[in-house]
Amino acid sequence: TAIHRADYTAPAFWIDTVELCFDLDPAKTRVLNKMRMRRNPDVPAQALRLDGEELNLARVLVNGQGASFKIEGNQLVLESLPGVEDGAFDLEIFTTCAPAKNTKLMGLFVSNDTFFTQCEAEGFRRITYFLDRPDVMATYTVTLRADKAKYPVLLSNGNLVDHGPLDDGRHFAKWEDPFRKPSYLFALVAGQLVSREQRISARNGKDHLLQVFVRPGDLDKTEHAMHSLMASIAWDEARFGLPLDLERFMIVATSDFNMGAMENKGLNIFNTKYVLANQATATDTDYANIESVVGHEYFHNWSGNRVTCRDWFQLSLKEGLTVFRDQEFSLDLCRDPSAKAVKRIEDVRVLRTAQFPEDAGPMAHPVRPDSYIEINNFYTVTIYEKGAEVVRMMQTLVGRDGFAKGMTLYFERFDGQAVTCDDFAQAIADANPQSELARLLPQFKRWYSQAGTPRVQAVGHYDAASRSYSLTLSQTCAPTPGQATKEPFVIPIGLGLLAQDGSALPLQSADGSTLSAPYTFVMTEATQTLTFVNLDAEPVPSILRGFSAPVVLVYDYTDAQLLTLLAFDTDAFNRWEAGQRLAVRSAITLIAGDADISGVKPLNDAYIEAMRSVLRHPDLDAAFKELVLTLPSETYLAEQLNVVDPQRIHAVREAMRSQLAQALANDWAWAYETYGDTGAYRPDPLSSGRRALTGMALSQLCLAAQTSGDVVWPGKAYQRFKDAGNMTDRFNALAALVSSGHPLAAQALPRFHALFKDEALVLDKWFALQAGATDRDGNILPAVRQLMKHPDFSLRNPNRARSVVFSYCSANPGAFHRRDAAGYVFWSERVIELDGINPQVAARLARALDRWKNLAEPYRSAAREALVRVAAKTDLSNDVREVVSRALAD
Ligand code: ARG
Ligand code: ZN
Repeated sequence: TAIHRADYTAPAFWIDTVELCFDLDPAKTRVLNKMRMRRNPDVPAQALRLDGEELNLARVLVNGQGASFKIEGNQLVLESLPGVEDGAFDLEIFTTCAPAKNTKLMGLFVSNDTFFTQCEAEGFRRITYFLDRPDVMATYTVTLRADKAKYPVLLSNGNLVDHGPLDDGRHFAKWEDPFRKPSYLFALVAGQLVSREQRISARNGKDHLLQVFVRPGDLDKTEHAMHSLMASIAWDEARFGLPLDLERFMIVATSDFNMGAMENKGLNIFNTKYVLANQATATDTDYANIESVVGHEYFHNWSGNRVTCRDWFQLSLKEGLTVFRDQEFSLDLCRDPSAKAVKRIEDVRVLRTAQFPEDAGPMAHPVRPDSYIEINNFYTVTIYEKGAEVVRMMQTLVGRDGFAKGMTLYFERFDGQAVTCDDFAQAIADANPQSELARLLPQFKRWYSQAGTPRVQAVGHYDAASRSYSLTLSQTCAPTPGQATKEPFVIPIGLGLLAQDGSALPLQSADGSTLSAPYTFVMTEATQTLTFVNLDAEPVPSILRGFSAPVVLVYDYTDAQLLTLLAFDTDAFNRWEAGQRLAVRSAITLIAGDADISGVKPLNDAYIEAMRSVLRHPDLDAAFKELVLTLPSETYLAEQLNVVDPQRIHAVREAMRSQLAQALANDWAWAYETYGDTGAYRPDPLSSGRRALTGMALSQLCLAAQTSGDVVWPGKAYQRFKDAGNMTDRFNALAALVSSGHPLAAQALPRFHALFKDEALVLDKWFALQAGATDRDGNILPAVRQLMKHPDFSLRNPNRARSVVFSYCSANPGAFHRRDAAGYVFWSERVIELDGINPQVAARLARALDRWKNLAEPYRSAAREALVRVAAKTDLSNDVREVVSRALAD
């Protein structure tokens, strides 16, 4: 049954303090929960209803006395609370649970003989009966008791206030968290762990202890995470004046985790993927991800923990804001403007390849949803990445300093409270009363309430007689489930004009004033026209600079205009975008037509020459070159079409790739030689960019070798694979061999496995590379089925499941969308199998067929059949049920 935002009511009771005592045992953990509670006087008197899931209840005491209660579904109900009608009372609950059997990885679970918790969003109820909702905030005291030899390290939120031995080889630790917090921020960890420690002193003179806990043997992979944490602390203080408020800040890594990481107060729990790195095992991408996820979780300490969400509909209040903050953190760490542009392009690429399809599909929802069945299904790219774009637009509308002022007001107003997205937007606007945001706030907030990606159509007209240029902008937004019509959005549009020779033109409006650069037009109406004067010829418009709003920009550029932008635009985002538009255009013309595409060469000479000059450009950074030379993904191309033939898309994109490989063969060789040696390993943007471009060059050279029969480059790739001093170069070389289908791949793959058989995260890469490889004659699906029989494979471990099953179903469209429907059959089997283990992970996989309605036949019918097959299962989890029923709804 669905839960609606409009039905929110304040809790009938408050919990002031919680004392938890755990006797940790994998098979049967005993939990004693003593709460100090009181009625909420603002709400009509009613029964006390506590949430609990998969718990064995042994005892309930009210003020120390046995009390009558009943169990209704997943709730413990106390109808009458004798003698406590008005005042506060003590409620004591004793339950047990079975962490070893917890394959859902929500609540208390065991991974590699270590106890971990995951309570967001509704996992705390799997630990004890509670008012498991974010607006009930309490202070926690936690005692952990466990066998000392097996679980030497006992951690929970806050400060360690006591510890010592117990009988029978057991010991205990007592933790106190001085901050009130909602239950979703509770955490405990117990096991054999070692830590890297760092003491820092804050500006106020207080000392802090920073710790990164990992399994013994992984300590040499914690330096980068610790550095990222220190950089995060310094950044939040410098940019927003937000200090670390804890004596101790801990990060613990686990290899079994549903998501990336979790911001539990003072005790962040991370997927190992976002902690562990050394140059031998982690790629540049891993290093960059660790930096942003460590930052993200740390920044939650203010945006999420100090100020939290009133209810889960407000999830983007903390997630959109915190993604924005981690993006800004990484941007600020780039010293170079070009590196900043690269980071922005990468973030936009994620938004457009993952969030735009979500906004166009059956799971589309506003940044602040109105209803959900399973909240876990709403940890989405819309809540996170689109939510971050909404915050970014606010910053654009009030300016960088204005935004910092707004943040200060937000934390002044709401510190210690559980609030809403409205509260946030209001604070930013109130701190900037003269801003466009303040003026347009009610309309701006449509970004929170309306789902779907707006399309902005621009039409330019040059009038030689008046030497003026007008740009007419119109916005529309397609219907989404439950929202047939949309009102116009507030859309900040970064704008510039280029002369045909590529030089930047001043923007002069009709009243003669010159608009200062960078200029942002704030669009508010369905249609608006801008006029610029004193122009000698038709200019080339550079619209939506920096991707200033999460919209689709439609403008009928000529190829010549795009080539001008690609060569000269001062806005790096639009420069990149021009190259993408050219590539999309060549691809779509072919894909949408019905010409035979075997042996086709989709790219025209002008495009190839433009790519050659980018690749050879003396002033552009390698990382930017790599982005420009990367063709739009198959997923992105599919979104440009109403009827999607995945095989045709795949074939055309592959044809483009090999055309570029052949036409630029000498240039790729030049790039490989020029950028190939990056010296001592450092994961900074500049040298990462050089490695990325070198990897691309190698992959293109191996691809060209496939047609030419050349043996030199595959040989060089194999050599590099063997000799590389870091994982980025080694893995790129391996990938070049695998993706070109070269026979040397068959030697390299087992060698790679043997080298890294004890490194789980590297094995994930090994699995993912094979499951995500280019399909040749339908060979990938059988390979995937074979990989699932590999002794190192386990569907229970989310990282491993993702590396094989998701890499195939969600990241390899050319192999997954088979004419014989076998890919979809495999998908439905795995969704059902995973649902029995871990519904959250299963529901993610279920979303691989979100866009089935856009598929051409025979794919469409086959995909529908697979969805129906899953939906026919009677005992599906809410998670998977919600996804497949939305997919099948008309
Ligand atoms: N709040 C976490 C983060 O964004 C994500 C936790 C999501 N967990 C879940 N079970 N849905 O960093
Ligand atoms: Zn988050």
